[in-house]
Amino acid sequence: MTTTSLAGPTVTAAARATDLSKIYGQGETQVVALDRVSVEFRQAEFTAIMGPSGSGKSTLMHCVAGLDTFSSGSVRIGDTELGSLKDKQLTKLRRDKIGFIFQAFNLLPTLTALENITLPMDIAGRKPDKQWVENVIQMVGLSGRLGHRPAQLSGGQQQRVAVARALASQPDIIFGDEPTGNLDSRSGAEVLGFLRNSVRELGQTVVMVTHDPVAAAYADRVVFLADGRIVDEMHAPTADSVLDRMKRFDAKGRTS
Ligand SMILES: Nc1ncnc2c1ncn2[C@@H]1O[C@H](COP(=O)(O)OP(=O)(O)OP(=O)(O)O)[C@@H](O)[C@H]1O
Ligand SMILES: [Mg+2]
Repeated sequence: MTTTSLAGPTVTAAARATDLSKIYGQGETQVVALDRVSVEFRQAEFTAIMGPSGSGKSTLMHCVAGLDTFSSGSVRIGDTELGSLKDKQLTKLRRDKIGFIFQAFNLLPTLTALENITLPMDIAGRKPDKQWVENVIQMVGLSGRLGHRPAQLSGGQQQRVAVARALASQPDIIFGDEPTGNLDSRSGAEVLGFLRNSVRELGQTVVMVTHDPVAAAYADRVVFLADGRIVDEMHAPTADSVLDRMKRFDAKGRTS
């Protein structure tokens, strides 16, 4: 791609938030979880979102992914303005265009690994691209485990099923909220490697919340949140450079 961050709306953004605010509660108990956040997630880019606990990372991800409502501002997935959609249309957009990987893998215990992987497409009544699904399964190394149910799989294997499920339907964008938070460092590195490969080799767009500088170093770009605002951005991050930046957040989560 030959786009630059200076270009306006012509940039191919997989998702974009503009002046996005999310306020919980009212009066004295009011919490400004997001304070006029503008951010863009470009196609075929791997973005990590970092920041202190409570800085608004999950809220941002949930609002951009159409899982939560927002107080003001706008969110676009591709060309679609989320605010303009009715519930049914939003559900359809989530199902058709977005892949999710959460820390709790959200696998259905009664289904096999393969059935879990193709479930979103089955619900949508879409025929999985067999060759593609095979490639994904190969890539995450689950070939010998497709008939197993989640309880018969290790945590790392379950997480790989969740990754394969997100990739299988070739969504426009994949969101992960600490997708490797439960894994040992080796399984985590594998999952992160798959995600990075899917971006580099397949042009997948990935946005991942993480607390781990090593995980963030797999991304092309890191966006730092503090107190509901974007306070910094880093390109071509390394674990060391991310760690250095994180150290500049004080104990209250503010930035110096
Ligand atoms: N349902 C809710 N009601 C009220 N306040 C909420 C609610 N959900 C989140 N918040 C507040 O919004 C702010 C942002 O929360 P969020 O979950 O986005 O943080 P986070 O950056 O993901 O933190 P963590 O790293 O701990 O997961 C926090 O101050 C939190 O207490
Ligand atoms: Mg969170």
